[in-house]
Amino acid sequence: MIHVSYQEGGIAVLTIDQPERAVNVFGWDFADQLEAAISRVAEDPAVTGVVLTSGKAGFMAGADLAMLQAFARPDVTPAKARDLIARLSAPMRRIELLGKPVVGASPGTALGGGFELLLACHYRVVSDAGDARYGLPEATLGLLPGAGGTQRLPRLVGLPKALPLLLEGRGLNVGEAQALGLVNEVVPQTDLLPAAFRSLREGRVPSKAPWDQKGFRIPGGDTTVHGDLFLATNARLQAASRGNLEAPKAIASCVYEGSRLPMDAALDVERQYFATLVTGPTAQALIRTLFFARQAADKLARRPAGVPKSRVSRLGVVGAGLMGRGIAEVAALSGIDVQVMDRDLAASTASVSAVVAAIDAAVEKKRLSEAAAATAKARITPVADWHSLADCDLVIEAVFEDARLKQEVLRQLDDVMAPGVVIASNTSTMRIGGLTQALKHPERFIGLHFFSPVPRMALVETVVTSATDDTTLARGLDFVRQLRKTPIVVNDAHGFYTSRCVEAYVRESLRLVAEGVEPARIENAALAIGMPVGPLAMADEAGLDVLWNIKESARLACGSTYVPDESDRLFDEMKRRGRLGRKSGGGFYEYGGTGKRLWSGIADLRADERPGMDDAEVRQRLLFIQCLTAASAFEQGVVEDAAEADLGAVLGWAFPSHLGGPFAAIERNGIEHFCLQAGQLAQRHGTRFAPPALLQRMASEGRRFHEAETT
Ligand code: NAI
Repeated sequence: MIHVSYQEGGIAVLTIDQPERAVNVFGWDFADQLEAAISRVAEDPAVTGVVLTSGKAGFMAGADLAMLQAFARPDVTPAKARDLIARLSAPMRRIELLGKPVVGASPGTALGGGFELLLACHYRVVSDAGDARYGLPEATLGLLPGAGGTQRLPRLVGLPKALPLLLEGRGLNVGEAQALGLVNEVVPQTDLLPAAFRSLREGRVPSKAPWDQKGFRIPGGDTTVHGDLFLATNARLQAASRGNLEAPKAIASCVYEGSRLPMDAALDVERQYFATLVTGPTAQALIRTLFFARQAADKLARRPAGVPKSRVSRLGVVGAGLMGRGIAEVAALSGIDVQVMDRDLAASTASVSAVVAAIDAAVEKKRLSEAAAATAKARITPVADWHSLADCDLVIEAVFEDARLKQEVLRQLDDVMAPGVVIASNTSTMRIGGLTQALKHPERFIGLHFFSPVPRMALVETVVTSATDDTTLARGLDFVRQLRKTPIVVNDAHGFYTSRCVEAYVRESLRLVAEGVEPARIENAALAIGMPVGPLAMADEAGLDVLWNIKESARLACGSTYVPDESDRLFDEMKRRGRLGRKSGGGFYEYGGTGKRLWSGIADLRADERPGMDDAEVRQRLLFIQCLTAASAFEQGVVEDAAEADLGAVLGWAFPSHLGGPFAAIERNGIEHFCLQAGQLAQRHGTRFAPPALLQRMASEGRRFHEAETT
């Protein structure tokens, strides 16, 4: 909905205020309404200037979900996508060519299409709202800004400043946006519209964009001046993405080609690149996983209906080491009072000091204001006895990964906490049911598996046992959202979903080491498939003791059917040598002042390299083992929803996001083809690569994962 009102002096005010939405979004209906509103002011001779603003706290978030979904439909060819995007971007060009000055007046956040709309205005006034963000995040979804962003931004701020903004998709705060010259004025919220009106009345707003004026030159020079910038950018993109991502390349090409053309031709170039990306598999995978699945998870799609919404006001954290401290920090910053309990008061106090230091460091890095830090720090209290936790409304344990210790801690909590208080474990490997089945109230126990480092990692793997009741699950999920994290819900099993996939991936790399493949080749192969770090580096970060525990729980779960192999030998050997990873001072890598390098002692653990193991096969093994382990977890009912599990993989262990997750990757390959390739790997390397029966059944029935049932 766009309201049109009039001010003295021939000023028309177009206020975007979409009913029943918390934020305005960019979609087909909106584009049509904007077109109509522009026509109205264009045809009205009394209108001499226009202010475009929003009736909400923000200006406009990015694209409408439904619209992105339409682009992802298989019947949308690149040619059709081009027409669709033209319908969206046409009103922006009309604003620019209206012949009357147009001011964008933004009360807050404008991202994606919303920011492109502001860029199409001749002048921009924004409020000084501290939480507002401005930018073009399309690259993070495998796309590019398709409504003029790749053309207007470079023409406004010059190529060297525009390229990183477009390629990284980072949101800017108001100060950064002003410093870059993206906005003309920053004013207090109450002065937003008066300032916009003044700018028009005082004749400070041109009625033509600079690039539509004769003799326009891109600030700082065009591609003839900045040829090196593009060469360096291309080289950097190739190194960073290993050729797996099309969007950054397309953005760089769009800017390069478009900036040499007049605006209308440049916009056409942008539409062509956008159409190719949006209909391609990478953007579709990213949109499905990081947009739809994430949105569903954040809206708590798995929350049992009918349980009243809850908020935690006081949290208990028992065991305040690496993880407990991270959870305490994030909770305090989310406005929750936190009681921190470690082994004794001295240990609890030391942990609280470490959390305080972490919060101070965030202030130092300008990520947090002094005031917010002071409030958060005042919320954290060290305690040393169980009864100090009694008035908490949720307690989470993060003590050592030791079954007996955890059982004892959980039993104490079961005794001391009032009925109905949720008790969570942050174990990364142990079955929650195994820890809690003998307790008085197994229904109130749940796994809340956070990832390290807690402040940075978005995912919480929420684990339900057969005894966990709906109220516990609902409250656990409400708590995860209160911390602004993203939950996935999985069923109880050793290693749950994420830990078993990570373990399988690392274990495959150990087999490769044992078979004699150079460790550097293994690490590189992982980077080539799109993992951010190699499996040996990942093992060091996770801790080999943690992974060893998962292996042991798998061994116990399998009983006599467990067949140990070379990876077991390497795990045991690393543990025996005390090389548990970064936290123990070294694992597969050595950590020194000059960074890390592969540990020379790995040579002792290797056989001579097997002939015929080429890089492609190493890459395939590392990717397939993750996909197959995820598929087995699906078959066994550990995960129930492929889209949710894809999201868990990307956020949890950094499965290559351009593939959209393991299930999306299997589908992209074609399930039948994937089974065929997995079968070939099984023949060469063992039955762990044999495709699960579920996959074979789906292949023969022509079913797809995202519609599949577990049965
Ligand atoms: P950590 O060793 O850093 O911390 C464990 C803490 O528990 C220590 O501060 C210790 O003093 C305390 N503790 C031991 N006995 C206690 C008792 N009786 N009462 C109160 N506190 C006691 O371990 P970390 O890495 O924080 O792991 C904790 C849990 O989180 C484990 O279950 C682990 O599997 C899980 N986890 C660890 C991840 C990681 O990357 N380190 C990731 C996800 C989960």
